[in-house]
Amino acid sequence: MARLDPHSYADSDQPRPRQLRLSLAVDFERRQLDGEAALVLAGPAAGPFDLDSRGLDVRSVLTSDGTPVPFELGPEEPVLGQRLRLLLPAGTREVRLRYRTSPEAPALQWLDPQQTAGGRHPFLFSQCQAIHARSLVPIPDTPRVRFSYEAEVVVPEALAAVMSAGPAGDRAGPRTGTRSFRFRMPQPIPPYLLALAVGQLESRDLGPRSRVWAEPQTVEAAAWEFADIEKVIARAEQLFGPYDWERYDMLVLPPSFPYGGMENPRMTFLTPTLLAGDRSLVDVVVHELAHSWTGNLVTNADMEHFWLNEGFTVWAERRLLEALHGEEEAVLAWAIGQNALEESMERFGNDSPLTCLRTRLQGVDPDEAFSSVPYEKGSRFVALLERAAGRVRFDGFMREYMARFRFTSITTEEFLRFLEERLPGVAEAVGVGPWLYEPGLPENAPVFRSARLDALVALASRFAGGEHPTAVQIRGWNPAETLVYLQNLPRELDPADCAWLDAALALTGRGNYEILVEWLTIAAGSDYEPAFPRTREVLVRVGRMKYLRPLYTALGRHPRTRALAREVLAEAAPRYHPLSRRVAASVIEKYTDTPAAP
Ligand code: BES
Ligand code: ZN
Repeated sequence: MARLDPHSYADSDQPRPRQLRLSLAVDFERRQLDGEAALVLAGPAAGPFDLDSRGLDVRSVLTSDGTPVPFELGPEEPVLGQRLRLLLPAGTREVRLRYRTSPEAPALQWLDPQQTAGGRHPFLFSQCQAIHARSLVPIPDTPRVRFSYEAEVVVPEALAAVMSAGPAGDRAGPRTGTRSFRFRMPQPIPPYLLALAVGQLESRDLGPRSRVWAEPQTVEAAAWEFADIEKVIARAEQLFGPYDWERYDMLVLPPSFPYGGMENPRMTFLTPTLLAGDRSLVDVVVHELAHSWTGNLVTNADMEHFWLNEGFTVWAERRLLEALHGEEEAVLAWAIGQNALEESMERFGNDSPLTCLRTRLQGVDPDEAFSSVPYEKGSRFVALLERAAGRVRFDGFMREYMARFRFTSITTEEFLRFLEERLPGVAEAVGVGPWLYEPGLPENAPVFRSARLDALVALASRFAGGEHPTAVQIRGWNPAETLVYLQNLPRELDPADCAWLDAALALTGRGNYEILVEWLTIAAGSDYEPAFPRTREVLVRVGRMKYLRPLYTALGRHPRTRALAREVLAEAAPRYHPLSRRVAASVIEKYTDTPAAP
């Protein structure tokens, strides 16, 4: 017997599920899903079958002919949750588990009506990556296992359900006042790509294979923001091969969604902070779409190989950005990424094992290990391979890689073997060892520069000496350039400079959250009081962890801002997603009574 994955009880000698049939009733009052999960096995099996679970109340387990299956729930382990061991009678082909989820299931956030745009109906959404699917359904929760699925979800009749699957019809539900939605996902997916959302939802068609879902109050803005999606899909197909998931639909969630986007197949989940009103944040959608190849088709075997998902996807995202908007835009995106990478390296320390691409995560919660390293060090590594092989050869290699490993889950070492087979010598030429197995950023990291980028960085470095950009310069900047300029300013400015910046760049009123949060971070670090009300609003409303971490961190610099942070967290915490709550609390716990050195 051998564990398949440091984050799962699944055992390599035991049966594998091939299909999942889910039937769920959504109970907003009790904040519970009441369900049945039928796991169809690859062949007849007998003996122990270990599943992952967290907080699940398992009521019964039967085979398909109704024979009871003995089961035993192990002790709660902090990272893994509870092992659910079934003892299968000889010849078992299918097990049916009746169960209820916990109101505290980390995969689910249950929103009160006040937390939605409409304010009248509750909302529910899931986020299973990395290892939360086990709190939604009893399953071997490792990406080494893939299954197709079918689901039926019963919800209050004013609401609609969407899943990471194709719609298969809806009709009146089993009880009055309910409606039942059916779904089918014929392609095999890893458990972390299971996804469900329930709310007052409407949709708008965007193209031949895409529509966007959102609350009625946001759906028009969403349709406008993402109107060009078909062009991006078509371009991605040219680069990476056919789009294998039939439809690419999107769901815009309420603002507490803890990520920017999540690549749930056929239904990308997105934060509403992308609705900037000028299409300037569609790079997140491009990223999630790119996961349709890197991640969803070719999947990391477990979280120790997470860079295979995110590094390749960031690289793919920037290749698409270059193809669609030109090299200059791609260079700016690499520069913005470099800034994020430096922040993560600083937070962990350059010699931290968490800055390796191939990580060791036995006993480590993947949510704690999350950072920009797999994204930005990973994408730089892929770009380095591209440069060493030459673009045309590398693009051919990527298409072969996708074709060879489609619908499978692989490790770093399997990738390396394929690289050596198809592009012999490239691994040695770039020195893959330090990139994959050593901390920090190797010295041969590719550099992305342009005259425009250099000019912006130089201009920002002269701000401290009193040189401000002219109105003409500022008018010429697009959102990415504005962001790069802000990122290169000192982290602490005096109040007069803050006031000048805010007025000259109209920062507090920005709809682009990347720019807004960068500004509010500078303002917080500068103890600049006029920005406090907007900071408070953002922190109370928005759960995206990418914004909470820098804001709460910058608020730690001054006694007055620390007090503000504590007050805001006390107010916001009950409505934060559990992940957001944890990030905010962990930042505030590190506050010291003496102000941090500038
Ligand atoms: N798959 C990730 C989100 C994720 C990673 C959730 C790990 C849980 C565990 C998604 O594709 C992502 O990377 N989102 C980014 C988008 C950005 C890199 C363009 C985000 O949310 O900020
Ligand atoms: Zn991603």
